[in-house]
Amino acid sequence: MALSSSHHILLLSFLLSCYVPLGLARRHWPVGGSTRFYDFKVQTTRVTKLCKTKDIVTVNGMFPGPVIYAQEDDRIIVKVTNESPHNATIHWHGVRQRLSCWADGPSYITQCPIQAGQSFTYEFTLFQQKGTLFWHAHISWLRATVNGAIVIYPKTSVPYPFPYPYEEHVLIFGEYWHKDMLQLEKEVVASGGSPPPAEAYLINSHPGPRYNCSATDVYKIDVVPGKTYLLRLISASLNMEHFFAIAGHKLTIVEADAEYTKPFTVDRLMITPGQTINVLVKADQPIDRYDMAMGPYMSAQNVTFQNISAIAHFQYTGATLDDLSRPAQIPVYNDNLVVSTNLHMLRSLNATNLPSEIDANLFFTVGLNVEECHSSNPNKSCQGPSGGVFAASMNNVSFVKPNISLLQAYDNNINGLYTDDFPGVPLKTYDFVNGAPNNIPNDTQSLIGTKVKVLEYGSRVQLILQNTGTVTTENHPIHLHGYSFYVVGYGTGNYNPMSAKLNLVDPPYMNTIGVPVGGWAAIRFVADNPGVWFMHCHFDVHLTWGLSMAFIVKNGEGPLETLPHPPADLPSC
Ligand code: C2O
Repeated sequence: MALSSSHHILLLSFLLSCYVPLGLARRHWPVGGSTRFYDFKVQTTRVTKLCKTKDIVTVNGMFPGPVIYAQEDDRIIVKVTNESPHNATIHWHGVRQRLSCWADGPSYITQCPIQAGQSFTYEFTLFQQKGTLFWHAHISWLRATVNGAIVIYPKTSVPYPFPYPYEEHVLIFGEYWHKDMLQLEKEVVASGGSPPPAEAYLINSHPGPRYNCSATDVYKIDVVPGKTYLLRLISASLNMEHFFAIAGHKLTIVEADAEYTKPFTVDRLMITPGQTINVLVKADQPIDRYDMAMGPYMSAQNVTFQNISAIAHFQYTGATLDDLSRPAQIPVYNDNLVVSTNLHMLRSLNATNLPSEIDANLFFTVGLNVEECHSSNPNKSCQGPSGGVFAASMNNVSFVKPNISLLQAYDNNINGLYTDDFPGVPLKTYDFVNGAPNNIPNDTQSLIGTKVKVLEYGSRVQLILQNTGTVTTENHPIHLHGYSFYVVGYGTGNYNPMSAKLNLVDPPYMNTIGVPVGGWAAIRFVADNPGVWFMHCHFDVHLTWGLSMAFIVKNGEGPLETLPHPPADLPSC
């Protein structure tokens, strides 16, 4: 059977579904989804924000970028042409990329960057996925301006499991710096210290009135009294988590990371970079203009951050507009209780395929490191704590990107680019939260390397993510490519298998989990999608510092458990 030989043949089989060997294909592949084509041009675009003008990188000159609209099981084809002078890749965050790891997009993990003047066509199926996801650049810190929504509707005549909204809106949260993002990353790395706080937070690229010179740069949603709105919240923020609230209105969460949840109603919520949350909001308040506020959640100690909220308006038709809108109440920046209460209420509508037996029991620590200063100019390049250099790690290994992609190295059996000895459990056991080494930088160093963890096809994985306390404890948004995972447990302090309570009934099915500050989260997934899958903290600065690793999931048997060959136009390094 020719099905395995290339993913172009798979594409053909969607278009000409009568030629697919149906008995086999139907069980694993959608038949009858439409194919949708998009043309993305990565460009340099001039913008003026907060009274300053700069060039940013965008897709098609838009910030936020174009929305990809689709239906469950649709085939998506995006031709990305790089008209900017910088290297680029696009990642389809949360798309599970079944048998299409080549289209995943993280630079040096599944592909080499698309170089200036080149193009690459991403092709994948939104197999059994519906809801809100997003796409973003996956190279350096370009995600700040290269991002956009992916809106996947249920199949025709399949209803939402909640009341149909009158209208829906996408709200993308971000952070803005006057500096060029590539330059900013370089400077932070060169300094060895922490990144400067953002100039402003943004809602759909608008900061709202509270910053210097931003009075009229406000995003607004017009609402009709009495109607219900679906807001698709997406956090494309770089280095911060955020609270979100609307003055006087409740938020009913119905979906997280493109999976339905049991509806629950809150006054405010926390969203980490990489997460998407759908909420229903009823316009049931007196006619007026209400603030939608996006403010910082900062769980770490001694970090300087932007403490002014971005504001957008939720504006009733018929409101008389004086200067004042009703202010939203967002929690104080370190309100961990709001975060844990919300996580506690987050439950899958239906948890299917939750593994109860486990084949691979993994335990990864997640946290910061400080490396010794080796510079002849420490004042300039060792601005981390106690004159050291900031790093970050999983199981105390700081990941180093190879110079061709891991997937190509794996697929072509190229030796010497990575090793498969990423530890399944920490090499040293200690009181991770309270007894973490802090004699900076002598005992706070990490190992450096390009290490992967190999998983057998189909293995049922449980992974404990444990925050450590070196330098500071902190909520880290950990994202896994190629899979969603069930968040079966979480807690504060060190994970203890004897006392940990796991939810094996209705845990949420996520692609990004904010591991509680000074605590742990337990996730489960079945490794049934072959390829190389990146897992990392979705704070860009932590990603830069090495807080990542990759899984290699081996092929199973037969074409439907085997990663096809690479596309012909895969960029070379
Ligand atoms: Cu949204 Cu690897 O990232």
